[in-house]
Amino acid sequence: MKYDIKNISLAKKGKLRIEWAMNNMPVLNLIRKRFEKEKPLKNTRVACCLHVTTETAALALTLKSAGANISICASNPLSTQDDVAASLVKDYGIPTFSIKGEDNKTYYKHILSALESKPEITMDDGADLVSVLHKKDYGFMPMGGTEETTTGVIRLKAMANDGVLKYPVIAVNDALTKHMFDNRYGTGQSTIDGIIRATNKLIAGTNFVVCGYGWCGRGVAMRAKGMSANVIICEVDPLRAIEASMDGFMVMSLSKAAKIGDIFVTTTGDVSVIRREHFLAMKDGAILANSGHFNVEIDIPELKKLSVKTRIIRDFVEEFTLKSKKRIYILGEGRLINLAAAEGHPAQVMDMSFANQALSAEYIRRHHGELDNQVYPVPKDLDERIAFLKLRSMGITIDKLTERQKKYLSSWQEGT
Ligand SMILES: NC(=O)c1ccc[n+]([C@@H]2O[C@H](COP(=O)([O-])OP(=O)(O)OC[C@H]3O[C@@H](n4cnc5c(N)ncnc54)[C@H](O)[C@@H]3O)[C@@H](O)[C@H]2O)c1
Repeated sequence: MKYDIKNISLAKKGKLRIEWAMNNMPVLNLIRKRFEKEKPLKNTRVACCLHVTTETAALALTLKSAGANISICASNPLSTQDDVAASLVKDYGIPTFSIKGEDNKTYYKHILSALESKPEITMDDGADLVSVLHKKDYGFMPMGGTEETTTGVIRLKAMANDGVLKYPVIAVNDALTKHMFDNRYGTGQSTIDGIIRATNKLIAGTNFVVCGYGWCGRGVAMRAKGMSANVIICEVDPLRAIEASMDGFMVMSLSKAAKIGDIFVTTTGDVSVIRREHFLAMKDGAILANSGHFNVEIDIPELKKLSVKTRIIRDFVEEFTLKSKKRIYILGEGRLINLAAAEGHPAQVMDMSFANQALSAEYIRRHHGELDNQVYPVPKDLDERIAFLKLRSMGITIDKLTERQKKYLSSWQEGT
């Protein structure tokens, strides 16, 4: 069959898929071309703890073209695309330590393998590299690091506040060109994609509960609404709850939503959001997925205690039968469903996220001597440059302020 690519090698499949992603990453491609000439990371050792996807491969090739020596491990045991890992090793000679479905012990062993290079820059998604490096003295300390996600930034800021952070880190997540697009449109689309790939369920007409109406939650809610679900939002922040209501969603406590929900998605970055009392209130057949960073948002250990039987019923779908014979389905072990059952964010949004990563690594190399052991934002001019490049790559032109407008907007005298 023409489209049957089962017979090509894993690495070859990965290489083709990396090429496909790179076709959709124009901003990163521009940066890579400049890096090839200028070599801003020449001989710099960089360890990346990121989801090993086609887009991450595009970032790795960008760092390599800048002259960096990279090693890679996964930032989640289920998020590795094995064909990409194979291609990174075989085609590009980049040491990559990750296997989809690795257990926790192997996951941490792989983090240690990535750290064997004694990196000068760490690139994290969830702050696992940083936290491993802070648990023991490995005889080296990086000059700086970057952090990709909300949960990692929260962990790092807590470390900085406690005065224990030992090197500066740039919060890539907080760049506007990152979270406004990656967290919202990326998580929105890929979370729905993961749920559909795992379950093949019709979304239309379902009561679709989203816990957390932050950047990710907004994206998931928006896309579920677009597929004609009845979307219900659960929040703890009053402002976000008002926003959800005025965006046209039903807003209620999770104890109420638990009784009527068909599909539940957590996107809070919080712990034990869906727990015992909610499992007990749920309908038979409720489907639960998480798209927040760690697998702690759904209290699966508690669900196990309530269950008399569990079985895997489809790839990434585990059925829990309670004493009452009610069945609850957990998708992808409660880990990031968009990466466990789908392919993570599309390349078009990772283009901006990873442009921030690449430029932040260059910034650290140049400016680490001026930085304290704190969490820093991505410099505003880098964020703006990425926005302009992305816009240009999308073929969109926008208006420019006239001199008269600039003067008007910066003066307090001219009101009428
Ligand atoms: N799936 C992915 O690929 C992906 C991508 C980006 C970020 N993330 C992760 O998703 C999570 C959310 O990120 P974000 O950028 O949307 O954060 P955010 O801070 O913008 O939003 C989190 C929201 O959850 C709410 N919340 C907290 N505890 C809650 C609870 N118990 N019940 C209901 N709501 C609660 C908060 O009030 C907030 O509005 C983080 O863990 C982040 O790392 C995942």
